[in-house]
Amino acid sequence: MKFISFAVAAVATTFSAVSARPVLRRANSCAFPWVANNTDNVVPITPSAKNAGWAMSPDQECAPGSWCPYACAPGYYSAQWDPSATLYNGPGSMNGGLYCDANGVLSKPFADRAYCVPSMMNAYIENSLSHSVSACQTVYPGNEAMIIPSVAQANSNVSLNIVPNTYWLGVSSQFYVNLAGSNATQCVWGNDDKPVGNWAPYIFGGGQGPDGNTYISVQFNPLYTAKGYKVSDAYSVRIQCESGFCNFPAGGECKCEGGKCSVDNGCTVTLTGDAKAKWVLY
Ligand SMILES: *[C@@H]1O[C@H](CO)[C@@H](O)[C@H](O)[C@H]1NC(C)=O
Ligand SMILES: *[C@@H]1O[C@H](CO)[C@@H](O)[C@H](O)[C@H]1NC(C)=O
Ligand SMILES: *[C@@H]1O[C@H](CO)[C@@H](O)[C@H](O)[C@H]1NC(C)=O
Repeated sequence: MKFISFAVAAVATTFSAVSARPVLRRANSCAFPWVANNTDNVVPITPSAKNAGWAMSPDQECAPGSWCPYACAPGYYSAQWDPSATLYNGPGSMNGGLYCDANGVLSKPFADRAYCVPSMMNAYIENSLSHSVSACQTVYPGNEAMIIPSVAQANSNVSLNIVPNTYWLGVSSQFYVNLAGSNATQCVWGNDDKPVGNWAPYIFGGGQGPDGNTYISVQFNPLYTAKGYKVSDAYSVRIQCESGFCNFPAGGECKCEGGKCSVDNGCTVTLTGDAKAKWVLY
């Protein structure tokens, strides 16, 4: 296993947060090297909490000797992780992002890849509601908390990060989709006294399969219903083909409307080849 460290010169130009302080000092944690609105498309998560922007729990630091995941803008995925991971549910499943070494120096495992790479760009949310809605992607590899935001503003579209089959160990993307009126603030794990984050009404999924087709899905979140929140209080969602050939379940539709899904437990649509589709919120 070989890691290539950041060149110091590159750090100075790309990472203004780092260039302000000595790079090679011994540290208790690795500083988050990006500012908001950076050209790498990295999105800081709760930058004023202890995680300092890393896609980690708000009370968790990027500690020396650990991996520190970061979030990417809607439609982009993090292309850095521990190259030695071989089991998606085994040791190493938390090892996304950059490595913070014993001296508090970051290294980028795949030097030839960008930090954030455009995903399949073949599926997006079309929000026809008059309030914004946040789709919160889980960090994986990472702690699997739903903290990576893609916010669909009222009457607007937002791309979702649908990963190609070359993504980490072939896993797909999962999004906890909040009620109308939500924004990035609701992309938190939360607790069951609010229908937010882990208790959001919907789960959307997507990813490219080994066959090259893309699979996207919608379902009610079992934790939302188990807690007694009403599916009829949530907006409706239907998956609609935009271009190319999309293969729908029997009955020719995939939607959850008025608290009932067209297929029990939700449904999946296959986007064959370069087909494109959207989740319409209405
Ligand atoms: C810059 O980032 C901040 C914080 O994430 C955000 O509120 C703002 O809209 C961004 N500005 C631009 C021009 O993208
Ligand atoms: C959302 O995307 C669809 C399809 O490309 C387009 O027709 C529509 O105008 C978009 N909506 C907005 C608000 O951009
Ligand atoms: C996001 O939602 C929170 C909680 O509802 C609200 O306080 C905040 O103003 C919203 N932020 C934006 C940018 O709309």
